[in-house]
Formats: sequence, structure tokens, C-alpha cells
Amino acid sequence: MHFRTDKLLHGGDYNPEQWLDRPDILEKDLEMLEQSGCNAVTLGVFSWAMLEPEEGAFHFQWLADIIDRLYERGISVILATPSGARPRWLAERYPQVLRVDAERRRSLFGIRHNHCYTSPAYREKTAIINRKLAETLGKHPGVILWHISNEYGGECHCPLCQEAFRTWLKNKYKTIDNLNSRWCTMFWSHTYQSFDQIESPSPMGEPYLHALNLDWKRFVTAQTADFLRHEIQAVREGGSELPVTANLMHFYKGLDYFKIARELDIVSWDTYPTWHKEAAAETAYDNGMCHDLMRSLKGKPFLQMESCPTSTNWQSVSKLKRPGVLLAQSLQAIAHGADGALYFQIRQNRGASEKFHGAVIDHYGGKDTRVFQEVCHTGRVLQDIHELTGSQVTSQVAIVYDQDSQWAMEDSQGPRNKGLHYHETLLKFYRSFRKLGLNVDLADMDCDIQKYKLLALPMCYMFKEGFAERVRSFVKQGGILIATYWSGIADDTDRCYLGGVPYGLMDVLGIRSMEIDGLYDWEENRFVPADGNALKMSRSYMCRNLCDLVELRGAEALFTYGEDFYKGYPALTRNSYGRGNAWYVASDAENKFYEDFIERVIDQSSIQRPVMERIPEGLEITTRETERMRYIIYQNFGAKPVLLPPVQGDAETLYGDPAEELSVYGLVIIKQNKQ
Ligand code: GLA
Ligand code: ZN
Repeated sequence: MHFRTDKLLHGGDYNPEQWLDRPDILEKDLEMLEQSGCNAVTLGVFSWAMLEPEEGAFHFQWLADIIDRLYERGISVILATPSGARPRWLAERYPQVLRVDAERRRSLFGIRHNHCYTSPAYREKTAIINRKLAETLGKHPGVILWHISNEYGGECHCPLCQEAFRTWLKNKYKTIDNLNSRWCTMFWSHTYQSFDQIESPSPMGEPYLHALNLDWKRFVTAQTADFLRHEIQAVREGGSELPVTANLMHFYKGLDYFKIARELDIVSWDTYPTWHKEAAAETAYDNGMCHDLMRSLKGKPFLQMESCPTSTNWQSVSKLKRPGVLLAQSLQAIAHGADGALYFQIRQNRGASEKFHGAVIDHYGGKDTRVFQEVCHTGRVLQDIHELTGSQVTSQVAIVYDQDSQWAMEDSQGPRNKGLHYHETLLKFYRSFRKLGLNVDLADMDCDIQKYKLLALPMCYMFKEGFAERVRSFVKQGGILIATYWSGIADDTDRCYLGGVPYGLMDVLGIRSMEIDGLYDWEENRFVPADGNALKMSRSYMCRNLCDLVELRGAEALFTYGEDFYKGYPALTRNSYGRGNAWYVASDAENKFYEDFIERVIDQSSIQRPVMERIPEGLEITTRETERMRYIIYQNFGAKPVLLPPVQGDAETLYGDPAEELSVYGLVIIKQNKQ
């Protein structure tokens, strides 16, 4: 289910409840929204105290009036349920809604996103208000989408949550013996006699039982998903069949977003990249990879729900977005498969903690601000390219990114407790594919991997039951696999595999990992090319952090280590298996290695690149498609203007001029008829 739209959404969080005593300001907002090409706003995210100022006393008229007035001007509404922040009366009357932290301290009233998702009182109160909102406003023609709560996150260790955790464990393990065996509790004599003895992880109690930590994180996701379902259910009971979204956060580690996304019709996320901290191209890779994760969660268009029109007020340095960056960031979302790019927020708060956070309309309030003009410009561009709405992004390559595996790997005390650099490793793969203009999906271990031509497994520490078999059949049928060090080490409950690793894939990869060396920050080793190697690679590359010592069991070594007692041991290997090929990268090699290596692998494969010429530094090429059309989107995140590499076949221009130099932060879109 998608929301009703034939245009790309442009708008943002709007908090008119802060301005009800200023009708002149509300009027001005409407005028400026219209002028800036905003066609959607999110209402009600933090309005609970205004919607229900006292328990059971509902005041929705102000909201209904605003929705009417927006609708008259063609502005749609994304209507939020208000559970992201609770009114004071609720906390006072029902203290059980206040979260308890891992040290078992219950919080006082304050801030937001800090409720107990198990609490029956919180569930009851959210259900009542959601139902009423749906009954009163859910059928308004101006309302197109539900925005459930805000940035779900965090965890609660209260007695109610402990009880729910034990029930969840009982359902999962059935017997305590089974749990003991899967959790390896015999270690340090921590065997449980009954489920009632289990406590959530705590620095004051059990912090190092990794399987407990892992199951706790899974439980937190399950409980959050359950609360999300509960909120949606109330909206449905109120008679609304509109699609639902929830706004997610950049590679947030507190929840397994693949599981949360199952509850949603549309994924949306809030993006706050730190532009200008490093080269824009680097920021763009990181932001682009997160867009691709969000799109991959459901394999369809998503929304950029929040982004800042200029600087935030919570990053360590509040850097203004340089001219052009607002458009470039909004368009990057669209390029990667979003059907809308929205802001936080429309009008800047007058007081409290976000009063200096950037907004479409600032405290000055005029139209003649740089930021407002850039918003207007972005609005015009989105109108010009509205035919992209609903088009899909398809990828031939996928990077396996699985939250359970990341949780287990980063929690385990192992080869490098100073940092495993997992996110950077994902990015090394990602940028190498993107430098060739390839779209990239991120897939968890439950995803359908067979539809891809190339599968990357960077530091895929956990192999869940059945995963190795599925990878095996992927390679057998002609797929290309690139696995790295620290893959296939542990099972679903973080028990190490016996009998050799990467578990289940030693014959597919033609190697066995024997030992792994952790390197100090200042240490380096080298990848030295083997003479006459099959990829014709001839230079050596630096590697750091972790060096896997592998023995060859059928694979060939294309690179070997250059230093230390394992000088001469394999560093890059290749094995053919079935109709496919399986590569193994044994250490955390520098970016350049991944770029050169992956380019050669792709060129030897049947994977099609949108352009064959070398893509200039910083130029992003992304492709969206409908049944009939292919759109190729070029964005320049580099430091200087660039000429676009030619595409194969006829093309029409949708935006910009492909024959001219593309300015920094500039945009060109061309389209090709697929038939
Ligand atoms: C988050 C929240 C918003 C706002 C912004 C500020 O994304 O959802 O309510 O606080 O951050 O950047
Ligand atoms: Zn709780």
C-alpha cells in the first residue's frame, strides 16, 4: 500500500500548536508553504498535550482547522500519532509509563522517546488517542499517510519489561536447559534453574553473557514492533485504512530495522549528514548507503521524512549547509528511490531545546532568506521531475548487512576491542560499487539473495541457520561471492562454530581461516600481488586492524601478506565453485584496493554498468526505472565541475544539460525508453 500521490512530496514537520495565539503567523506559514512548492506537512508529532490537555478531554478542532486550511491550498497532511512525547498528567497518574534504565533507575518526567512500551497504561492511553484521531481526522481528504510515533528507540528494564522478556524467552527456548545450552551459561557457573531467574543485561549484574545481550536486543525489537502494531491497530479500529510509516534513523543500532519495517507500509527516515566535515563525496557515500538501506528494507520507494534545511543545533559544530547542498541532499534521496524529501521543520521554535535548529522559516520570518530561497528552488526542481514518483531502484549487487550479526560481533570480546571498523568496511564495498555507477541493495540474512548477481559479505560474523546453504546455492548457480575475514564465526545465539570457519562455506571459498591477528592502531601490513594473477593487479595495498591467516584448500591466492610472520600467507583468494566464483579478502585493506579489485571483478562478470567510461571523482550515478523508462540521475558531490561520461543508446533530458559541465552539487537527469 502506497500513499496517494502523483508528485514527489516536499514539505516537513510543522508544529502550528506552538503558534495558535498568532493567527498572523499561521497565515504567513500557509502563504510561504505554498510559495516554496511544499505539498505535504507532518502534523501532530508532539501535540499530545494540546490534543488531550487533561485525561479524557480531547481538543482536536484546532488541528482539524489547520488540516482544512492546508487542504484548501493543495497541501497534504502526514498525520502523526502523538506517542513520541507524553503529557505531564500521564506520567503523574501512571508512573509505570516512565522508563527504567539498565541500572534499574526509573526516570522522572521529561524529554521524549522514553516510554515503557510494555506498560498497559501507556498502551491504553496511546490506543485511545490514536483511535480518536483516526475517527475524527483519518478520513479527511487532505490526510494521506500515518506517521506512527517518532523515532522509536531505547529500551526499558522495568519489572513489566523483565516479565515480558522472560515470556519471550520461554516462547523461544521452551525449556531452561535448552536456553542454558544455547547461551553457554555453564561458563562461570551461571546456569539458570528457571526462566524466572533471568534478568535483562545490566552493568550491575550480567553484562558479558553475549547470548543474553543478543536476545535482549532482539526482545527490544520485538517489543517495539509489538507496540508499533498496537498503535497501528488503534488507527485501524478508528476506521482509517491509510498507509502507515514510522521515521527511522541512520544505521541505528538499537533496533533491527528489517523487522520493524515488516509492520510498515512505507519506510521513512531522518537524515542529518555532517556535510563539510569531510569531502562532500565521502558524506554522500555514507548518506547514500543509508538511503539504500532504507529502500532495501521493503524493496520499494521510501521517504526522506526529515532533513535540516541548514544546520542542526545538536551536532558538535553547527555548520551551515553551503549554497546548493540543500538541493543536492534532497535530490540524493530521490535518486536513491525516495518519493519525497521533507524537512525538520517548517517554522523554527521560539524557545526550548531546538530554538536554534535550522528551519524553512526562521525567527526573522521573511521570504528573503537564503535558506527559504533554496527551499523554493528545491520545490521547483521536484515539480520539474515529478514523473520519477513511484519508479523503482533495482540492483544487481547486494551487501549483506544483518543487525543480529552486527550486534553479536560488536558485543563479543574478540580480536579487536578497540574497534572493528565494521561501518567503514561496509562503506568500502559500497563506494567501490557506486564508483562504477551501480545501484546497491543492503540485504539481511532473511532476504532473497538469489535475485542478485553479486553478493558481498563484509565481516558477516554470524551465519544464521540455513544461510551458508543459501549462499552455497547462490554461488553454485553462477553468483559471485565476495566474503571477508571475520565471517561465518558464530551461530544464531553467538556460539562459535566448531570444525573450521567460515562455517559451511570452506569448500565454496576454498580456504579455512586458521587464526586472526588484531593490529594496533599504528600497525600496518601490505597486500602484495602474486605475479601474473588472474585479475592482472600489479600494485600493493595497505591493510590494517585485522589480519586473517588462512590456509588454501583449493583456492588460488592473488595477493599475499607483505609483512610479519605471516608474510606470504594468502590475503586475497579466489575459488570457482559450481558456475560461480567465491572471493575471500583476508584483511581490512585500504579503499583503493577495494575499488581496483571490485572494478575488475565486475568487468569480468555479466553485471551491466550504466556507463563504461571512468566516472569522475565525486560524480554519483543512480538509476530509477519504471516498466517503460530508465532514469539516470547524475549528481556532482566532487570538488570541481565535471563532464558527464556518455551513456549507451538514445536518451532524452529530464533535467539539466548533460552536454555541459556539471557544476558542484549540480543535477542532471536523463531518461531512456526501455522498449
Ligand atoms: C529528530 C526528531 C525531530 C527533531 C530533529 C532535530 O530527527 O525526530 O523531532 O528533534 O531530530 O534534528
Ligand atoms: Zn518497561
